[in-house]
Formats: sequence, C-alpha cells, structure tokens
Amino acid sequence: MAPHERITALRRELHEHNRRYYVTDSPSISDAEFDRLLRELQDLEALHPEYFDANSPTQRVGGGIIKHFEQVAHRRPMLSLANTYSFDELDEFVRRAEELASVPNLEWSAELKFDGVAISLWYENGELIRALTRGDGEVGDDVVVNVRTIRELPLYLPDEAPRDLEVRGEIVFLHDDFERMNARRREQGLEPFANPRNAASGTLKMQDSAEVGLRRLSMFAYAAFSADQPLETHSGALDALARWGFPVPPRAQRWAQKCTSSDELKDFLTFWDAERQHLPVATDGAVLKVDRVEEQQRLGFTAKAPRWAIAYKFNAEQACTVLREVVYQVGRTGAVTPVAVLDPVWLSGTQVQRASVHNADQIAKLDLHLGDWVWVEKGGEIIPKITAVDLGRRPIGAPTVVFAADCPDCGTPLERQNGEAQHFCPNAEHCPPQIKGRIEHFIHRRAMDVDGIGIETVDRLVDLGWVRTPADLYDLGAAGWARLDKFKEKSVANALASLEASRSIPYERVLFALGIRHVGETVAKKLAKAFTHMDRLAAASMDDLIAVPDVGPQIAVSIASWMCDPEHQRELSRLKAHGLQMEKAASAGGASAVLEGQTFVVSGVFTHFSRDGIKDAVEQHGGRIASSVSSKTNYLLAGEGVGPSKRAKAEALGVKWLTEEEFRAWIGSTD
Ligand code: IVH
Repeated sequence: MAPHERITALRRELHEHNRRYYVTDSPSISDAEFDRLLRELQDLEALHPEYFDANSPTQRVGGGIIKHFEQVAHRRPMLSLANTYSFDELDEFVRRAEELASVPNLEWSAELKFDGVAISLWYENGELIRALTRGDGEVGDDVVVNVRTIRELPLYLPDEAPRDLEVRGEIVFLHDDFERMNARRREQGLEPFANPRNAASGTLKMQDSAEVGLRRLSMFAYAAFSADQPLETHSGALDALARWGFPVPPRAQRWAQKCTSSDELKDFLTFWDAERQHLPVATDGAVLKVDRVEEQQRLGFTAKAPRWAIAYKFNAEQACTVLREVVYQVGRTGAVTPVAVLDPVWLSGTQVQRASVHNADQIAKLDLHLGDWVWVEKGGEIIPKITAVDLGRRPIGAPTVVFAADCPDCGTPLERQNGEAQHFCPNAEHCPPQIKGRIEHFIHRRAMDVDGIGIETVDRLVDLGWVRTPADLYDLGAAGWARLDKFKEKSVANALASLEASRSIPYERVLFALGIRHVGETVAKKLAKAFTHMDRLAAASMDDLIAVPDVGPQIAVSIASWMCDPEHQRELSRLKAHGLQMEKAASAGGASAVLEGQTFVVSGVFTHFSRDGIKDAVEQHGGRIASSVSSKTNYLLAGEGVGPSKRAKAEALGVKWLTEEEFRAWIGSTD
C-alpha cells in the first residue's frame, strides 16, 4: 500500500475508534491496539510531512506553539441571554413569548446551562477549520489548535452531516479532570486554579497546545446552524448533533428535556437545583429555549439577547466556615482590599479558603469578629464573598475585626477620602506592591505587550531597587539585564527584543499602559482620538477633558492631577526619549492618506475586521465614514449580508461596491 493510502486509512480508522471510545462508549479495540495504530500513523506522518493534515488524529495531543490567535468575525453574533432567578419572572417570560409568537402552548426545550466558556466551531466541507471564542460577541479568537485536543469532538463529520456547519457549545472542565489537573499543578509547585470555569478559559487561550492536551478539556454542544440542511427544532438539532458525533446534553439523564408548560419547566428546574451537586460538571442554571426554529424566528431578538430563550440561574450555593484572619492586599492604584482567610470549605465543587469583604464599611456592616462562623457564597466572581455571620456561634471574647491603620507592605498610614469606600496607601512612589502593580500593568499583553519580562522578574527588579517606574526598564540596557541573577543570554535577548517591539505600540495603548486611575482601554482610545498628542493631553483643561465622550468629572480630575505631578512629567519625557509612541498619527500602525477625500458606508459582517474595526481602518487611512448611502457616498464597503435597503439605495445611486479584499488591497493590508 502506498504511504498516502495507508495514512488515509489509518486516519479514518483512528477517527472511528476515537468516536466509539469517547462518544458512543462502545470501543471495539483495546487501548494497546489503538496506541499501536496511532504510533504507526505518527511514524508515517513524520516520514511524509507532505501529507500533513491539521485534523489528523495525531493532532489530538497538540504540540504546536501558537504565538497569537487569529481574530475572526463571527458569522452571526454570539449573544448573551436574559437572566432570571425567579419563577414569577419565568412565568411572565413564558406568557409573553406565547403572546408574541401567537401560540397558546409553546414547546420548550430545557437544558442545563454549563458553566464554562462559549465556543463556535466551524466545519467546512465536513472538516473542522475554526473554533472561535466569544470575544466581544462580534469577533473572537480562533483557538482551533487547542480545541482539536478535545477527544470527544469530531474533527471530520460523517457523510450524512451537512458539509457546512456551525456548532456552538460550552467548553468545560469535568470535575475529575479539574481535580487531576490541580493535583498535577500542586506537585509541580504551581498555584492551583480557583474554579473550573476560569481554568477552562485560561487553558483555551494557552499558547502550548500540548499542555492543553494534557489538561483534558471537554465540550457540550448546544446549538447548530447549517445553510445546507436547515434544522426545524432545537431538540431535533441536538439529536442530529449527537448522531454526527458531538457530545450533547443527554436527554436520557434528563440533562435536556422537552416541556410544554411553565409547570413542567419549573419541575425541571426544581429537580436540578437539588441534584446539580451530583453532576460531573459545573452548572449555574438552565437554559429554556423555544423548540421550533420557526417560532424562534417569529420572536426574534432584542439588541442583546434572543426573545425565545432565557437563562434561569440557580441561587448561589452557600457554605458556613470559620473566619481566621483578615489580610490586606494593595493594588497598583494603592487601593487596599481586605481579604478574609477562612478554614477551607467546599463550595460549588471547589475548595474555598479566601473570601473578599470589599471594604471597611462591609466589615462594619457584617460586624465581623475573628473566630466567627461566616456564610460564604459564590456569585459570578472568582473569589466568593461573605454574606452573613452566624451570631449564635460567636465564640466568647472574639475580637472585633478592626480595619488596618497602616499599609501592610510599606507601613504608611492608610487614607480614606471623603465619600470613598476604599482605603488607599498614599505612598504611591515607594510602596512595593503599587510599584510592581504599575509595572505589571505597563507590560501587560493588552498594554505594551512586553512578553519577554515575566511577573517574577518584575518582582525581583523592584525588590533589588533597580526598577521603580516603566522607564527604568528601558534604562537597564543589555549590561543591566545581564547582571540579573539567573538571567541567561536568551532571557536578556528576549527582554530587550520585547522592549524594542513595544516602541511601536500605538499611542492609545501607551496611554492605557501609564495606569492612570480610571483610564481603561476604552477611555484611553477616546482620549487618544480627542488629543492626538500626549503634550496636548497633558495641557488639556478640565473642560477639554470633560468634552470627550465617556469622560466625566471623576476621570477628568484623575487625568489632570496625574499630568500635573512633576514625577509623572519626568516619567513621560523619559519614555518619550526611549522612543515610545506619543502621538496618534505616527502610531496608527500603517496609517496613510490613501483614502483621502473618499466617503464610505459600511455594511455587513467582515472576516478580518469587527464593524468598528473596519470603520477605524477607513479613518486611519484618511477616509470618511457616513452612516447612510447618499449621492455623496463614494463606496459601499460591503461585507457578508449587506442590509437590503443599503443595497437598493447604492444600486439606485450607482454607488460602487467595495469588497473587503479590495479594501484590504487598497490600504495595503494583505497579511
Ligand atoms: S444557548 C442565543 N444553551 O450561557 C442563545 N447557552 O448567556 C445562546 N451556555 O455564554 C445560548 N450552557 O455559552 C445555551 N445549554 C446552553 C448553555 C449555554 C451554557 C452559556 C453560553 C453563553 C451563556 C448565555
């Protein structure tokens, strides 16, 4: 047999054994035999790299290192769902849906809501080609390399499945896999993950797919879309998905159920509220969906969520345990957060030892005493919170918790401004966690993206007193880095190269990286647009600042006072001397004036840009954006699914169409 034929046969055979093992639970060969076949395939593939296939069964173990995930626009937006915690609201939702759909007794499909990370899988010609995270709902990251390691997922679809298919679902850690992974982490001296959802989200974004393969993610599919084979009901779609080899919530175990009344829906919810703790996977509620697709379409969507589905959330689980101590954490802005240290207790499948108490008011309100039995509850946050004290169990003589007077790290007396709930350490320039926090923020991926310097390195540099501000990082130079203990040649080169690369990070991200209080990514973008040069921002009056969209008095004061500080002015000029981008035009990443004088109307969905992203690109290259087509429009920049009225108007006025590819060629962006 020619090698190519053998490779194809092995791949087909191994996919089938994989399906039998993981999906239908009916293996027909031994593990040893499977491993032998897999090894044979691996050897053949190594000999014949020309037959590489990203969806080969050998790719299940991962192996590739991904530097950056490609950002891809969703074919249909990934929406969230309206939430409810109450049966009354549920009744009202059902009633309204029946009224709007003009159907007296809608059929519903109820299913568990898995607490993980949403994913959208694209199959083209029966083959898995993309796996997009939700992202902002419009554009997600393609993490397909990591998703291929999920053994339960088909990489190829069986022949009866539609050739083009989008499957949506939730990526999760099963409790067992989560525990196993955390045990492994503890053995390796690594910090265990706080909960399965965060672990799933972190794992999906990992650059090392081999590690992802070891950790063993799982997925449950909960929606399918196909142009070739329209699906009439949601329950039918789940059945079809199961036939095509996808893991779906099993109806036999009541993870999904058809219901025809509010009462049946409530039975389902009551059952799972009590039973969910025995599930092998975390769930935070159930999703109730109108079953017939035609009725779903009749109900449609609000701006944010479908009118035909709702998430019913179970009340958070609670647990009672003993408060041992309150410690204080100092953030990069100097804000001091009290954290309760507890006797370990199990809550929603994870062991909890710390809880947040927000601030001094909360401590007073709860009247916390050391040794108290406290109720902890997990909300949407990672750290659970203390919700109440069991006063009947307070030990005699238990001391009241008194909020710290001094900073736990630098000893400076804490301050609390009038009207503010938080305490602050005012020693911004010398308090180590604040210094470290600011530098960590500065080098963060979304800020200056200095990935050649790790958090531990920042800690060491600050502890040694070599670095106090971001500019110090640039001052170190090759000789400085080389003096750092255990920092080998390669590390020095990485640190220097990533600092060098940060010099071309756009101005708006530099602005964000400075860590000015209340200046997040969005505000930084708006500021950069309004003040195209750092000097202009530094000179802006309060009125100028407040005129910027999204900037209110609080943000304006924060910016103005940051800019007034001589130490900050010095820092800015040092950063400027180090070549960081301090103005918009030079920083727009390939900006030009090639679109000067042209007016564009944007419509539809794009592959390489989000809707806002493509508008920004037009403006960065000197073009103008209009919201509706008129005789002044030069081009209709058309993505997939252009609105019918825009299309008609453009045709009537003879406005030229411009495809995304033509546009990209025009602005010279063809990577
Ligand atoms: S259906 C448009 N079904 O819950 C309706 N979502 O806010 C799409 N989720 O992040 C959602 N389990 O990823 C649906 N059985 C389930 C689900 C589920 C978990 C997640 C979903 C989304 C969130 C909805």
